[in-house]
Parts: sequence; structure tokens; C-alpha cells
Amino acid sequence: MFGRLLGNVSHRVPSCLNQVLLTMKPQVVFVLGGPGAGKGTQCSKIVESYNYTHLSAGDLLRAERAREGSESGQLIDNFIKEGKIVPVEITINLLRKAIDETMQKDEKKFRFLIDGFPRNEDNLQGWTRVMDDKADVKFVLFFDCGNEVCINRCLERGKSSGRTDDNRESLEKRIQTYLQSTRPIIELYEKHGKVRTIDASRCVDEVFADVKAILDKEG
Ligand code: ADP
Ligand code: C5P
Ligand code: MG
Repeated sequence: MFGRLLGNVSHRVPSCLNQVLLTMKPQVVFVLGGPGAGKGTQCSKIVESYNYTHLSAGDLLRAERAREGSESGQLIDNFIKEGKIVPVEITINLLRKAIDETMQKDEKKFRFLIDGFPRNEDNLQGWTRVMDDKADVKFVLFFDCGNEVCINRCLERGKSSGRTDDNRESLEKRIQTYLQSTRPIIELYEKHGKVRTIDASRCVDEVFADVKAILDKEG
């Protein structure tokens, strides 16, 4: 849709308007960190104060798992319980649809926090293939938090979350996936100077103060 929009009009509008249209390209901040690092919590707070739409890849996958008639429900269920990363064909379609629908409803909503993505090489390749020319990735917000703190937060969350993966067995697998598959992606972005690291082991408000400082400067 973005390509079509620009493709149709860009050759016959004055350059200043052209510029405005170009800035409507989705502006994306990837939000990464271990399970329980506080990504969702901080994204909710960002949305309260900044003009961002929060898209959690995990939430989108859980919704797809629950959707009647979904062909991917069983696969998603198995991957989530095992702490494994769902093949990107599924996830990227959900993300693209959510971005499209948000911008179709309100064209001013072009800033997105994409939480829990890209989590591995396959995720990154899928993004590059499908979204590279359609969206700009501004930077990665990395919530850095020790594994033990992450596990304990998820176990606490598990008392009420109803999530099938907030138990010790799944969490150990999720931490392994995070260390083996997600950390290298963060390091890759780091090499390009695109990572903003926040010490996420502190209390919610202290973490958010750092988030605000980053977004006020470059968000
Ligand atoms: P993630 O999305 O990274 O998995 P969440 O935002 O869902 O993490 O947080 C995991 C759990 O930890 C939730 O129960 C949340 O209320 C709690 N939590 C989040 N941030 C903090 C924090 N800074 N200190 C203590 N608990 C937190
Ligand atoms: O981010 P969240 O904790 O909600 O993710 C829960 C699970 O959803 C992950 O452990 C993984 O199984 C799945 N997921 C995925 N690909 C993503 C994000 C989440 O497969 N990009
Ligand atoms: Mg989350």
C-alpha cells in the first residue's frame, strides 16, 4: 500500500508535499531483550506519552493461535511452549497486516514499536525480504536484564498470565533461544551503531526515565 501510494502521486506533487508523503513511511523501533525484561511494560508506557503504536510479535502470534480457522494455530502453540521462534513467514504477515491496518485507519500513526522482533536470523531475513523497502528501522531499544531476574519476573507473571510458556521448563528453553538466537541479532545491530541499551534490571520508573531520554532525543 505504501509503495502504491507513493508510486501514484510522487511524480506529480511539489517536492515539499512529496517530502511529507515520504515521511509517512512507517518508522520502526525494534524492542528486544530477554523474556521478562519488561519490553511490554515499557512499550505500554511509551504509548501513553508518545505517538507510537505498539505491536508485540508474541501477542500477534498468540492471537493468531486463538483465531478460529487458523491454519498455523497448532504450529504456533507448539513453538511457543518449546520457546522456539515461529517461522518468519507467519510472523511477518501478521506484522505487515497490523502495520497496514493501523496506517489505513489513521495515516498519522506511522510510528511503530515492534516488540519481540527480530528474534533470530530467519526473522531478520524475513523483515529484509518483505519490509526493507517499505519501512525505516530507526534503532533497537534493548532492555538488558540478567537471566535470573528475567526468569523470576516471568514466573511471577505466570501466576496470573495464563501463558503456556511462563513456567520453569519453557523459560529455560526461552532463555537458551534468547542467548543463542536473539543476542547475535542485537550484536549485529550494535555493529551498525543502531542499539540503545537500557539497564532493565531496575524498577519500572527508573527504566522508563532512560527510555524517555532516548525517545526525547531521537524518537
Ligand atoms: P516482556 O514483555 O519483556 O516479556 P513484561 O513487560 O511482560 O516483559 O514484564 C514481565 C513481568 O515483569 C510482568 O509481570 C511485569 O509486570 C514485570 N516487570 C516489568 N518490568 C519490571 C521491572 N522493571 N521491575 C519489576 N518487574 C517488572
Ligand atoms: O515476546 P513474547 O514473550 O510474547 O514471545 C513469546 C513467544 O512467542 C516466544 O517465546 C516465541 O515462541 C514466540 N515468538 C516468535 N517469534 C517472535 C516473537 C515471539 O516465535 N518474533
Ligand atoms: Mg512481552
